[in-house]
Amino acid sequence: MSQLFVFLVIFSYLCATIREFMAKIGVFDSGYGGLTILEKIRQALPEYDYIYLGDNARTPYGTRSFEVIYEYTWQCVHRLFDEGCELVVLACNTASAKALRSIQQRDLLGVWEAEKSRRKRVLGVIRPTVEVVPSITRSQHIGLLATPGTVSSQSYVMELEKIDPALVVTQQACPMWVPLIEAGEHTSAGADFFVEKYVWELLEKDPLIDTIILGCTHYPLLLDKIKKTVPPGVQLVAQGDIVADGLRDYLRRHPDMAACLSAEEGSCRYLTTESVEKFSQSASIFLRETITPEHIEL
Ligand code: DGL
Repeated sequence: MSQLFVFLVIFSYLCATIREFMAKIGVFDSGYGGLTILEKIRQALPEYDYIYLGDNARTPYGTRSFEVIYEYTWQCVHRLFDEGCELVVLACNTASAKALRSIQQRDLLGVWEAEKSRRKRVLGVIRPTVEVVPSITRSQHIGLLATPGTVSSQSYVMELEKIDPALVVTQQACPMWVPLIEAGEHTSAGADFFVEKYVWELLEKDPLIDTIILGCTHYPLLLDKIKKTVPPGVQLVAQGDIVADGLRDYLRRHPDMAACLSAEEGSCRYLTTESVEKFSQSASIFLRETITPEHIEL
């Protein structure tokens, strides 16, 4: 009996140790918006273990320069690698638009060389989003609502052009939406003014738009207000399910990556550059569970 007990203790210790060394999936956003993506990813792929990193102390990124967005994003991705992630999803359009290419084409090469392994990967949210657009639109006129950083990068315009050169893309920057959401004011009557302002400005520029991409992971929190503002027949593309499907597909096509990920507990750690009290309080707007975040310094 006691031998069995000792065996079980050693066995569970070994399992926990192996799990500790198995890789996690990192999900990064400048703030809380990435939680809308994380939720859908965890629903689609509940078996994996995740680490969410919100750079809440430095959000919003959307109004910052290219250099700053790149530098902050790379610091966060690097931290997620250090925490045991092999695969990192930039659940932030601004970071995907401004930093993904430099990270994939330059920084990852350095990491691979140092580790003598080409396994670590970073994925963005823009490519999977644009891929669904041609099957949705009938008028071929597409609208994009996004942060000023994403709009100025022209990333959506270029990616949509690659997918279908016949698409006519019109962009509208919405600089007030992320601050309203981060301040918890997105359900207030005051938020209606800014929702209507940006949606109408977009549709005035091109009344033929029949598909609008919500190109910021914060915007699903304004979905009800946006739906009330757009004319009937205009479809809204939110990214959560699209990114989750894209990740599932990626893991199917990359079994070597899937095999190194810990897939047992479905756990999630939450890291924030803000205070843990502030993160728990604000994250409750996005999540339906109580969490215990950890503060990090970058
Ligand atoms: N959630 C981020 C995005 O998808 C933007 C938030 C910010 O401006 O920092 O673009």
